[in-house]
Amino acid sequence: MKNSDDYLPIIIRGIAHDLNNILTITMGNISLCELYIDDDKEKLKSIIKTLLSSCKRAQELISQLNLVSNFQSSKKENIPVLALLKHSVSCIGTTKIDNIYLINNSNSINIQGDPEEFRQIFLNLILNSLQAIEQSQRLKIILDNTEFEEENSDHIEPGYYLRITFQDNGAGISEENQAKIFKEKFTTKETGTGLGLIISKLLIQKNNGYINFNSKKNTGTTFNIYFRTAR
Ligand SMILES: Nc1ncnc2c1ncn2[C@@H]1O[C@H](COP(=O)(O)OP(=O)(O)OP(=O)(O)O)[C@@H](O)[C@H]1O
Ligand SMILES: [Mg+2]
Repeated sequence: MKNSDDYLPIIIRGIAHDLNNILTITMGNISLCELYIDDDKEKLKSIIKTLLSSCKRAQELISQLNLVSNFQSSKKENIPVLALLKHSVSCIGTTKIDNIYLINNSNSINIQGDPEEFRQIFLNLILNSLQAIEQSQRLKIILDNTEFEEENSDHIEPGYYLRITFQDNGAGISEENQAKIFKEKFTTKETGTGLGLIISKLLIQKNNGYINFNSKKNTGTTFNIYFRTAR
């Protein structure tokens, strides 16, 4: 594990990465405006609302740049997991919105951490899945609980966890690339920065969580993230 000074440049690049995500979202929403401009005023209004909230979020991120030297002291608050997931999905501005299913099978959802950091984690994982699926495919986001015993293959500390699963049936990741996806700047996308997953992993670890995944080329990809919760 790196020490916190090593994180700083990664986090700064992470903020740049999130600003880039916001631009992607903004451009997606502008394209939607073009689609609805002639005959759906109500839809247009709601897209403009989303655009404004994206701009506001960009402002927040820029102000975060000023706070980044306080990296170690991030917040410890109750995370409104469902609300944050719903918000992440709704703000993306994608025509694939109907391909996303949010399924809550959890009976214990209370976790603690920094809400802003969770928002970044969710957005990165959802965007990756959406970029991997075609119009006919789908992304399931599933919440449930799981318990880890003393010895487990993922080296997760024993305990009771909230598991959030992002399961898509999209392009999948080749075996060769599976070893590289958490490396900085690894991307298979023309406009990708290859920072989304490494930043997400650091933020997950910083909030005392874990991430693992499995994937099969042309079949799909599942990312699981785990955060401690009371039973
Ligand atoms: N759900 C997924 N399905 C298929 N491939 C994925 C998925 N998630 C990640 N990958 C692969 O892992 C690579 C690294 O992902 P990461 O989020 O770090 O960067 P990126 O998505 O390429 O760029 P950015 O996040 O900056 O837009 C991707 O380029 C892609 O090849
Ligand atoms: Mg990404």
